[in-house]
Amino acid sequence: MQIDTMDTTSLAGLDMELENHYASLCAEGLDLDLTRGKPAGDQLALSAALDGALGGDYRTEDGADTRGYGGGDGIAEARRLGAEWLGLAPDEVLAGGNSSLTLMYLFLLGAHRFGLDGPESAWAFDAGGTRFLCPVPGYDRHFSICEDLGIEMIPVPMTGEGPDMDRVEALVTGDPGVRGMWCVPRFSNPTGETYSADTVRRIAALGRIAAPGFRVMWDNAYAVHGFAGDGEGDAPANATAQPGIHPPHPDSGDAPANVTARPGTLHPDSGDVQADVMDRPGIHRPDSGGALPNVMALCRAAGAEDSVVQFASTSKVTFAGAGLAFFGGSRRNVDWFRARLSVMTIGPDKVNQLRHLKLLPDMDAGAPTCAATPRCCARSSIACGAVSKRVWAISASAGGRTRPAATS
Ligand SMILES: Cc1ncc(COP(=O)(O)O)c(C=O)c1O
Repeated sequence: MQIDTMDTTSLAGLDMELENHYASLCAEGLDLDLTRGKPAGDQLALSAALDGALGGDYRTEDGADTRGYGGGDGIAEARRLGAEWLGLAPDEVLAGGNSSLTLMYLFLLGAHRFGLDGPESAWAFDAGGTRFLCPVPGYDRHFSICEDLGIEMIPVPMTGEGPDMDRVEALVTGDPGVRGMWCVPRFSNPTGETYSADTVRRIAALGRIAAPGFRVMWDNAYAVHGFAGDGEGDAPANATAQPGIHPPHPDSGDAPANVTARPGTLHPDSGDVQADVMDRPGIHRPDSGGALPNVMALCRAAGAEDSVVQFASTSKVTFAGAGLAFFGGSRRNVDWFRARLSVMTIGPDKVNQLRHLKLLPDMDAGAPTCAATPRCCARSSIACGAVSKRVWAISASAGGRTRPAATS
């Protein structure tokens, strides 16, 4: 049906038909909760160990009491965890409150209102308006931020390997008003696709051809998640069980447990970029379905380390409304954002950060996988289970594909 080519009579008929259908649904008196991404109670229970995890000891590893003010960068343990997730060094990461979306909003608000390179550079002064490249389909809340700030959105189609980079490069080159671009590089919401290595490499080099102050908003919301059982890049089905691997979920059938390869250690300044980008945390081995090169290593190789800022959170790992979020980027970007945040807050919820670190001390805290369900490389079977069950439940109802669906 093409409503834009229908005549008035047909449109009126369709209108009445839909009104009647709507009225009949209302008459059923249904009480449905259509909240997107709302975790089930049994799933939340998987992270219940957060409650009481501190056992009355509020001190960080360096002895600071998390109940007080201060520590605006986040506690050191949390910054280290964020660094592992994002493939950065700890001093290139700020650990914040529960929402990465808030950090994204605040970053763009600051760039728009105060400028990334002094007041004169504020995007609000862009004579021809400010534009952002928006891969579509994309995450609607990103688009709401643009709308809120009056940033014009330029849609760019997704290709199955990420955004159409020929289009992106042409748009960035020809228009100084294009100030940035949204990216969900891994299991992109809502298509589920992961950017190819070539796409990441080209995105990392955009800073070379874009106007000054161009920023890629690299929202790695699914940085540490993984899948098994969808036939795409699974670990061998006959992999033997290992300590720390938790059993398949009851709803996952009787498929054998798979094993997830583990990220290596962080070498922030190693020289050989080619080898380096494939051997860092933040990179998920091909067998986890979603291998992603380290974007910062590629930015550095391109001489454009300021052009990508990264975001992630534990929202899809523990509690969506009570986790912690990470911001990461070059030290210049971190310094700039710290200065903005320090006006808004005296510090994040460090108590919550500390209790999360009790549950997720590092990327080696456990070896999670669930056969035939998404798996989480956060290395906590508890956290992994939370994510696995949640995403699987959503995917199954969206047609049985093991893909992350749009969540809130
Ligand atoms: C791509 C993406 N980014 C950000 C978010 C929200 O993250 P947070 O809870 O950290 O604000 C979501 C939630 O579904 C998401 O899908």
